[in-house]
Amino acid sequence: MKAILAEKYGHPEKVLSLKEIPKRSPKAKEILIKIHATTINDYDWCMVRGKPYLYRLLFGLFKPKHSVPGMELAGAIEGVGPSVQKHKIGDQVFGDISNYGFGTFAEYICIDENAVITKPLELSFEEAAAIPHASALALQALKQTGGIQENQKILINGGGGGVGTIALQLAKLHNCHVTGVDSHEKLEMMKSLGFDSVLDYKLTDFTKTGARYDLILDCKTNKSAFSYVKALKSTGKYVTIGGEPWSLIKILFWSKLISLFASKKLQILSLRPNEDLDYICNLVKQDKIKCEIDGPHKLEDTAKLIQYFGEGKHKGKVVIQIN
Ligand SMILES: NC(=O)c1ccc[n+]([C@@H]2O[C@H](COP(=O)([O-])OP(=O)(O)OC[C@H]3O[C@@H](n4cnc5c(N)ncnc54)[C@H](OP(=O)(O)O)[C@@H]3O)[C@@H](O)[C@H]2O)c1
Repeated sequence: MKAILAEKYGHPEKVLSLKEIPKRSPKAKEILIKIHATTINDYDWCMVRGKPYLYRLLFGLFKPKHSVPGMELAGAIEGVGPSVQKHKIGDQVFGDISNYGFGTFAEYICIDENAVITKPLELSFEEAAAIPHASALALQALKQTGGIQENQKILINGGGGGVGTIALQLAKLHNCHVTGVDSHEKLEMMKSLGFDSVLDYKLTDFTKTGARYDLILDCKTNKSAFSYVKALKSTGKYVTIGGEPWSLIKILFWSKLISLFASKKLQILSLRPNEDLDYICNLVKQDKIKCEIDGPHKLEDTAKLIQYFGEGKHKGKVVIQIN
């Protein structure tokens, strides 16, 4: 089978290559999936380059321990191990497999049956592949962690990315007023998607405008805990989903102290992959939310696409179609 291999860390276009590798057979609790669509995520950008260096503790100290990157897929089951109970041959499945490893930049994958869930037949493989990671982050950040309520004033930092564009649509279902922060090039697209106001992060520091928010969803975490506290209303919540590891450690440290003295809350989301995706799929089926797709692109262009993703040139989810 064809797969994209990362045999060492480095620039995606220097270390990734399309190769022919043997197709595995499923072990007892594994399923063999023919992958029809996959996507590019921040994990791939970090794993292929081995940066930030702290991530090498997870991805392998000197070279990637998973030689095939990719962690989100939609496909059809072509084989099952003898102890598989949840799925059968022919089922269409999708999911974020990051709790079970990597390997979706390939024509096939053998993976634990719990790594994926059943794909609604109404959604194409490309639509389904774009859903799991960004939608689960957006939903869990806004609902479960942020406790979003009707008519709140919300800010999404990194609003033009995969998570931000879904979070906006979820917030709009709660009639919230939503401000989005991102680079200049994405602001027009963000306004057309429904952001009530937009800020260019290179020109405006949203924590210094004097505006106060009920809920801040941060995809970047590049300011101090105290500036976030200042930008919150008296009972406001700040939820971060990602950013530089060191900034996240500082947020974790200060959040405990701040909670002792103020009713404002700073929280870090720890993603539970594939949870509550039925809710999101139903909204997609009813045309109440839409996952912005960049592509579909070809498997052989994966290295270029990871670089394009890392440079922030993508709009929405970068989807790769595998024939
Ligand atoms: N919490 C968890 O358990 C968990 C699990 C997995 C992943 N994650 C994290 O989730 C995040 C994924 O977000 P995503 O898929 O939406 O990423 P994305 O598509 O890359 O979007 C991030 C957006 O932020 C913008 N941006 C860059 N610098 C910014 C700044 N200084 N201020 C404001 N916006 C800025 C980017 O634009 P430009 O680049 O064009 O400037 C981009 O539009 C990643 O940080 C990842 O590490 C979290």
